[in-house]
Amino acid sequence: MLNSAEAPTAHAKLTAWIEEIAALTKPAAIHWCDGSQEEFDRLCAEMVDAGTLKKLDDTKRPNSYLACSDPSDVARVEDRTFICSEKEEDAGPTNNWMAPAEMRAKLNGLFDGCMAGRTLYVVPFSMGPLGSPIAHIGVQLTDSAYAAANMRIMTRMGSKVLDVLGAAGEFVPCVHSVGAPLAEGQADVAWPCNPDKYIVHYPDTREIWSFGSGYGGNALLGKKCFALRIASAMARDEGWLAEHMLIVGLESPEGEKTYVAAAFPSACGKTNLAMLIPPAGFEGWKVWTVGDDIAWIKPGDDGKLYAINPEYGYFGVAPGTSDDSNPSAMKSLTENCIFTNVAHTDDNDIWWEDMSDAPAHAIDWKGNDWTPDSDTPAAHPNARFTAPASQCPTIDPAWEDPKGVPISAFIFGGRLSKTFPLAYQAFDWNHGVYMAATMGSEATAAAVGQAAIRRDPFAMLPFCGYNMGDYWQHWVDFGAKLDNPPAIFRVNWFRKDENGKFMWPGFGQNMRVLKWIVDRVNGKAEGAVESPLGLMPTHGDIPWEGLDFAKETFEHLMEVDKAGAMADAEDQTNLFDKFGDKLPAEMEAQRQAQINRLNDAPDVWKMPS
Ligand code: GTP
Ligand code: SPV
Ligand code: MN
Repeated sequence: MLNSAEAPTAHAKLTAWIEEIAALTKPAAIHWCDGSQEEFDRLCAEMVDAGTLKKLDDTKRPNSYLACSDPSDVARVEDRTFICSEKEEDAGPTNNWMAPAEMRAKLNGLFDGCMAGRTLYVVPFSMGPLGSPIAHIGVQLTDSAYAAANMRIMTRMGSKVLDVLGAAGEFVPCVHSVGAPLAEGQADVAWPCNPDKYIVHYPDTREIWSFGSGYGGNALLGKKCFALRIASAMARDEGWLAEHMLIVGLESPEGEKTYVAAAFPSACGKTNLAMLIPPAGFEGWKVWTVGDDIAWIKPGDDGKLYAINPEYGYFGVAPGTSDDSNPSAMKSLTENCIFTNVAHTDDNDIWWEDMSDAPAHAIDWKGNDWTPDSDTPAAHPNARFTAPASQCPTIDPAWEDPKGVPISAFIFGGRLSKTFPLAYQAFDWNHGVYMAATMGSEATAAAVGQAAIRRDPFAMLPFCGYNMGDYWQHWVDFGAKLDNPPAIFRVNWFRKDENGKFMWPGFGQNMRVLKWIVDRVNGKAEGAVESPLGLMPTHGDIPWEGLDFAKETFEHLMEVDKAGAMADAEDQTNLFDKFGDKLPAEMEAQRQAQINRLNDAPDVWKMPS
């Protein structure tokens, strides 16, 4: 089937693997993606003919397309995601596990003939700048042209990767099928997929197999599957970090640049923070975007930590994105984009909730007529845009620097509408690890049927490719090796008042908190108040110029409710107990210290005025 004379590589292991997968999945044809614009245009034109894509108005939105998925295939499927380590305890209590041999037998059945009637696309990709010492290569075999086209935006993809790989370079093999073989003469559907889904990782052998879904993190295997789940296991073995973090550079009017990395759970504002526009009162400040979702962080020879964004594009949440909430994202979306599950307007453009004034009529993501009076949203809440990172007007000049950017602080933030302060700093590294490990957040699209609040340690709950207890220990050990580890902070933009309104204006105004963080790490903000939870900024530590924000509201935002915080510390045992002897002793020690501090606190701890 595979004519190796035609394979554009001398990598015998790669071609042998492709032959093996092709023999199993039985595609009608094989196409090696070269990553060229012509190839992208041709793939998209074929998908337009097949009904998978609509080409948007070329003057309004050049070279851009709309895809609407099957209504059953709209987000990652955490309950169908597996970490198949040899030992069950290496997957840990927060991952689904199956023995590798059992899973391989299962998948061999599912993949047998699953690409019949379809083309197998060979997608070589680099996570990180080509040839960077922090980068790693993968090859995705997929029967989805949609996945191949999105991979060209999200990763450095094509022939140039084969060049770097040479005849014997290392790559992570990634097999993907939508699981919808076509019988002879059978007509295709616009969005093929399979109700039975498996998103499978073998961390011991560093392999990925994904079946049944064409959507996002289930199908673009460089992203969550490789850059987080497999990479976190690689990072554990090799002494680095693979994190669900944005990376942003904050440049003062004096030209001093401070980079921070921030972890927030899915759909909790990473893209917004990564593209923040400084508000009134911050004249001369610049915020530079390095990445909006994933950071790979390695220690440099100088003892500092250096981070790269392994991705090449943004796969961002569309609803809520507007010229008000995120003008840089809107400017990134003007051309060369794929939009998925948004509404199609009558003038052949796209629209989603809160993007702008609603159109009088549109076709919703399910293909039905929609008007502002409709009961259902025009765009699916997890509708996404795929956009080239280079199109972001605030992209950092150093974003492709192969050595990465130096990280001065880590920030962790969940979506917590009740009783959780705006910002505070950890007393030290291990306290910071404890704060991140116990982070809670209100549930999002990919976590179906779960409690309203769930613990999301490090925003990595669905993405850690090994035992989360070992991951915490890895963080503790990692920090112990650093002479001058980055400071660690917790933030919460989402606290609401008695009327259910956000108490903090958020978005660009988050700059005020970032400025305090920058001052802290650069030794410019001496005074921080010791609260039971951590070191807090006083009203005077935050710059308020340009914002009318009452001191009382700020102090209300910073309050610590003793009973609530104590209940949370008690509830943490429900998380910790799951880990048995994998729980680092340091985590329980930190929890006890937290309880002791709360015992000494008044019923409502208030900022001293
Ligand atoms: P993934 O791509 O899923 O990993 O998530 P993300 O963290 O990049 O999500 P994104 O930036 O798209 O989050 C969007 C959601 O966060 C929207 O509901 C926004 O309204 C909300 N959001 C972002 N920043 C703020 C903020 O400062 N305050 C408030 N209240 N909401 C915010
Ligand atoms: C997330 O869910 O955190 C995402 C989107 O970034 S996806 O790539 O679909 O996982
Ligand atoms: Mn994400």
